[in-house]
Amino acid sequence: MNLPDLCVARNRDKVEVKHIEQHQEYEPLFKGQKYFLRTYGCQMNVHDSEEIKFYLEALGFTKTEILEDADIVVLNTCAIRENAKDKVFGYLGRCKHLKKVKPNLIICLCGCLVQQPHEIEEIKKNHQYIDIVVGTHNLNELPELIVKKSPKQDIEVFSNSDKVFENVKYARDSQVCAWINIAYGCDKFCTYCIVPYTRGRERSRKMENILREVQALKKAGYQEVTLLGQNVNAYGNDLGLGYNFATLLEETAKIGIPRIRFVTSHPWNFTDEMIDVIAKYENIMPYVHLPIQSGSDAILKKMNRRYTIEEYKTLFNKIKEKVKNVAITTDIIVGFPNETDEDFKATLDIVNYCKFDNAFTFIYSPRVGTAAARMEDKIPYEVKQKRLKELNDLVNSYSLASNQKLLGKTVKVLVTEKSEKDQNKVCGYTDTMKLVNVEGAQDLIGQIIDVEITAAKSFSLDGIVKK
Ligand code: 5AD
Ligand code: SF4
Repeated sequence: MNLPDLCVARNRDKVEVKHIEQHQEYEPLFKGQKYFLRTYGCQMNVHDSEEIKFYLEALGFTKTEILEDADIVVLNTCAIRENAKDKVFGYLGRCKHLKKVKPNLIICLCGCLVQQPHEIEEIKKNHQYIDIVVGTHNLNELPELIVKKSPKQDIEVFSNSDKVFENVKYARDSQVCAWINIAYGCDKFCTYCIVPYTRGRERSRKMENILREVQALKKAGYQEVTLLGQNVNAYGNDLGLGYNFATLLEETAKIGIPRIRFVTSHPWNFTDEMIDVIAKYENIMPYVHLPIQSGSDAILKKMNRRYTIEEYKTLFNKIKEKVKNVAITTDIIVGFPNETDEDFKATLDIVNYCKFDNAFTFIYSPRVGTAAARMEDKIPYEVKQKRLKELNDLVNSYSLASNQKLLGKTVKVLVTEKSEKDQNKVCGYTDTMKLVNVEGAQDLIGQIIDVEITAAKSFSLDGIVKK
C-alpha cells in the first residue's frame, strides 16, 4: 500500500526528472471478459482513459457500454470541483450494488480524486468493496495490479512526481483527432486549484519524442492533433534544452498534419513568439482557450493568477490583431471567497469587453489543502448561484452572436463522428472550434469539407455540405 501526501505533492524543490521509456508487454490473461470504463473531468483524463483502455485491451478484456455486463469497472475520476466527486461516489453506489450479485467483479478507481489523502481515508473507511486504487503518477502499474489482484483492497498512490513516461501506448477513441501529452502537472498554484497537487510538478516531454508521435499519427491518417498540458505555454521551461512551446508548435506545424490545436494556455506565459507562430502556419488552428477566471484585479491577486485585467486585455487584443479570424474562449469562476458585487460586475464588464466565443463558467468550489480553502468566505451560496445565472446569460448571448455571424457563410469542417441525435447527420468542428451538425453520410468522417451554415444556436451550428 502507498498513500498520497499533500506535503509531498506540494513540494517544488528542484529534483532531477527522469524520462522513462515504456516497453512493457502484456499477456491477454482475461480473454472473454469485459471492461466498463467511465471518465470524468478534463481532456487530460479523457486521454489517460485511452491509456487505460490500451492496458485493459492488452490484458484481453473487450469493451462493454453496459455496466451490468462488466467483469472489471474502471472509474477515471476528477477532483476539480465537489460535484465531480459527488458524481463518482454516486456511480460507485451502482458498482457496489452490482458487486453483491457479481462477487468476482473487479472495481478500480484512478485519476485525480484518489490523489487526495482525505478521499483515500473515505475510501478505506466506507468503500472497502473497491479492489484497486491507482494514482495519476503510476497509471502504468494498473495492468500489474489487475493481474496480481489480492482479496484485500490495494491502494497504490504516490505524490512525488519526478517521472515522465515516454512511448506510452494508447487505444485511441478516434481515428481522426488525437490527443498528445506534451507536459504534465502544473507549478502555478492558483489558490483555488487542486491540480498542482493531483498532477504534480510541471514536467515536459522531450520534443523529439512528441514530434515522433505526431509523425506516426500523420502516417496513420490522423487529421488533427491537440497538444495537451495544464499550461502548454510553460512547455520546455523545465528542460533547459533551448526550446519552448513556440518551437514545439512550429516544428509540429512543419510536419504537415492538417490541423493542430493546443490546450490550455495560461495568459502569464503567452509570448509574442507564440502568437507569431500561430499566425504564421495555416495548419495551426485560429483558436485559443485563454482562461481569465475573474474580471477583478483584487480577485485575480487573491487567486494568484499573476496578471491584471489590463495585461489580459493587452494579450487578448494582440492575439485578435495578429491571428486572422481567431476565436477566443475562456474559463470563469464566480463566488471566489468574499467576491463583492463590484468584483462580480468587473467580471461582467470584461465579458462585455472581450465578447468571448464561448466561456466555461463555474461556481467556486473549495478544495481541501489549497490556499483559497483556508480563506474566509461570507458570500451565501444563493448569491453565487444568482451570479452564475447572470453570467451564463451574458456569456451565452455572445456565443450565440459569434455563431450567428457565420449564418449563410461557408466554413471548413473536419467531420469527426456521426451525430448522436440524428442518423442522417454527422458532426465536426470549424477551425475556430465551433461544433457543426451536418446533413450527410458517415463516409464524410475524417474529411475536411466545405459546409454552408444554415442555423446558429448558442452551442452549435447546423449546415449542409457545399458542393
Ligand atoms: N472551483 C471552481 N472552478 C475551478 N476551476 C479550477 N478549480 C476550481 C475550483 N476549485 C476551474 C477553472 C479552471 C477550470 C478547468 O476549472 O476555471 O480553468
Ligand atoms: Fe490549476 Fe492554475 Fe495550474 Fe490551471 S494554471 S491547472 S487553474 S493551478
